Amino acid sequence: MATTVATDDENSSEFMSVGRFGLGVSVLYQYQGFWAFAEALENVKDFQQNFKALDTDIILASVPKSGTVWLKALAFAIVNRYGHPIFSSSHHHPLLTITPHDLVPFVDFKHVYPSCSVLDFTKNSSQHTDHYDSPCRLIATHFPYPSLPASIKDNTTNCKIVYICRNPLDTFISLWHFINKIRTMPESNESTIPPRNKKESTPLLIEDAFEFFCDGVSEFGPYWDHVLGYWKASLEKPHKVLFLKYEDLKKEPEPQLKNLAEFLGYGFSEEEESQGVIKDILSLCSFQHLKNLDVNKNGMAFSNFVANKDFFRKGEVGDWKNYLTPVMVERLAHLTEDKFRGSGLAF
Ligand code: A3P
Repeated sequence: MATTVATDDENSSEFMSVGRFGLGVSVLYQYQGFWAFAEALENVKDFQQNFKALDTDIILASVPKSGTVWLKALAFAIVNRYGHPIFSSSHHHPLLTITPHDLVPFVDFKHVYPSCSVLDFTKNSSQHTDHYDSPCRLIATHFPYPSLPASIKDNTTNCKIVYICRNPLDTFISLWHFINKIRTMPESNESTIPPRNKKESTPLLIEDAFEFFCDGVSEFGPYWDHVLGYWKASLEKPHKVLFLKYEDLKKEPEPQLKNLAEFLGYGFSEEEESQGVIKDILSLCSFQHLKNLDVNKNGMAFSNFVANKDFFRKGEVGDWKNYLTPVMVERLAHLTEDKFRGSGLAF
């Protein structure tokens, strides 16, 4: 499994041999303290240099496998609910026929959305159009907080960031499954995955994946730095950064959704509440509902990189209990306690 991974910060072109992880089929490079595949690094540079935030922009951020697709669906449904009523008899909601990843594009994967107007940073707000007539730009990213463009982070705009995080045990298990789906996917001529050798197309052992994760070598990781970056920003700028936990959304979805809508500036009216709009959005975006839609059951995402269905696995809290040994759990728990000590963040 060991192969070459480059350390590519501004001052160093040193190469380290640490192995392939993350999506499991791409060489990872370290840039500004995080690990990612080469195209993502081109995209982050473009984002940093060319993106000019608008007051109305909404950035959805996460570490992979912490509920990004769920957050995309919820945020899209909230901000578009006037143009796209939920469960209307006369109107098909875009979420019924378009995957959340296509409705809210990732800036990190800009190279697979060549004609996406939202990711064309040379356009200003009045030129920005999409075919859903969204009232604002919704953009998703896995880039860590320190690497976001200055115009998102500074106080010159009212642009908002919503971060979703998930406990490290479930995040790791979800990532490990996801990686192995990609590694074992039959090769296709249309796939954007570089040709794999035999080893890379066999499942990654959980023990090996675990070592990489604990060492911080995972897509957009280290996990802890990623989470802490957004956590601290949410404490410093609560009007700008909302920090959500996957587990809280599962446990108390209604208050969490209300809070999210309020934060985004699209709070629910009493009338909407009494009409059941909050419940409708939660049903529309529920794991079972999204998972069973044809659009999410079939087809491929990111230029044939991964199957749409692989973004919907179990959608549960605590699945790690089925996979991790007590020793692994203890190690990850200690690591997390160490990293988060003094931050006020706990799982
Ligand atoms: P599991 O692999 O544990 O099932 P991401 O969107 O960041 O890639 O995260 C994927 C994880 O979120 C997967 O977790 C997936 O099943 C879960 N998920 C997807 N849609 C969801 C939804 N609507 N509600 C809850 N969890 C969801």
